[in-house]
Amino acid sequence: MKHIHVELGKDSYDIHIENGLLDRAGDYIRSLTKSKTLAVITDSHVDALYGKRLENSLQTAGFRVHRLVFPAGEEHKCASSLLDLYQSLSDSGITRSDYVIAFGGGVVGDLGGFAAATFLRGIPFIQIPTTIISQVDSSVGGKVGIDLPSGKNQAGNFYQPKGVLIDPTLLQTLPKRFIHDGMGEVIKYGCIRDLELFELLEGLDDEGIFDHWEEIIERCCKSKADLVERDVLDMGERMILNFGHTIGHAIEGCYGFGRYTHGEGVAAGMSMLTGVTEAMGLTKEGTTARLRKLLIRYGLPVDVDASAEDLIPYISNDKKMRGNHMTLIILKEIGKGRLLPLEAEELPKYIRKKVAP
Ligand code: GLY
Repeated sequence: MKHIHVELGKDSYDIHIENGLLDRAGDYIRSLTKSKTLAVITDSHVDALYGKRLENSLQTAGFRVHRLVFPAGEEHKCASSLLDLYQSLSDSGITRSDYVIAFGGGVVGDLGGFAAATFLRGIPFIQIPTTIISQVDSSVGGKVGIDLPSGKNQAGNFYQPKGVLIDPTLLQTLPKRFIHDGMGEVIKYGCIRDLELFELLEGLDDEGIFDHWEEIIERCCKSKADLVERDVLDMGERMILNFGHTIGHAIEGCYGFGRYTHGEGVAAGMSMLTGVTEAMGLTKEGTTARLRKLLIRYGLPVDVDASAEDLIPYISNDKKMRGNHMTLIILKEIGKGRLLPLEAEELPKYIRKKVAP
């Protein structure tokens, strides 16, 4: 078992990483609370695979369990699902001394966490993430929210969980494309602050990573915890986690959120931006080639067909824009990211159209 403490004063919590932890979740949650009742918020996909197993573990530890299941998919991270969840929490008799468990990928963590943050003005909650992106990133740091018709994550808050339980064996049922999707975020951590992780990934492949998940997840969560401790409200250092995301989100949006997954968009975004910053002399020579080689190794795109003109309209609505200013994250070299403040008018020059053949 690996433990990482996230020190946030009264909002501090621990992240636990261990193969098979799902079956011990009940004991762990029992050590945190005397409450009798838990609401497990999950989606139809995770519930079918693992819902009963989690419920058994929780019941064995003496909890009464309500499983609140909504349909899987980003399109359900919306206001109407949130209202349905409030009603289900109310029907289940959940009170402020009970706990909510958000059990699933990023959509479940964001929606379930936001329901927990706002129902009865806040119910304590635990994250049990089941995808790579949620295990290495979104379950830690307290960002919760829903999408609005005008954009992703546009209604939300910071609300820290009481604990994060990560069972890497749950990744075994992920389809290959979602392994690759998650690797986009894992490679990002290597790029921005963990050269050793980047080197570890260079020596592995799609199959090899399965023997190293505990270590990979621990490295990413340590970076995430450190950044969250320094900048919980995402006003400074934490923004470095957005490397690849400004162009990545634009790629996802430009193709209607159907063609590229989040991790694929981030991968292409990291590669395209680094190609530009290296050509400008802001990034050490050879960085782009090394990054692209690793992305290709994990089945990720390094470029897209859309032009800068196609992508820019999808950036202007981005949360990273503050007034006319924004912060772009670039690499000095592999393992060292930095924040680059920009005026909005300067952005187009950081988006190049095509990778040279
Ligand atoms: N996923 C980026 C952050 O939590 O800041």
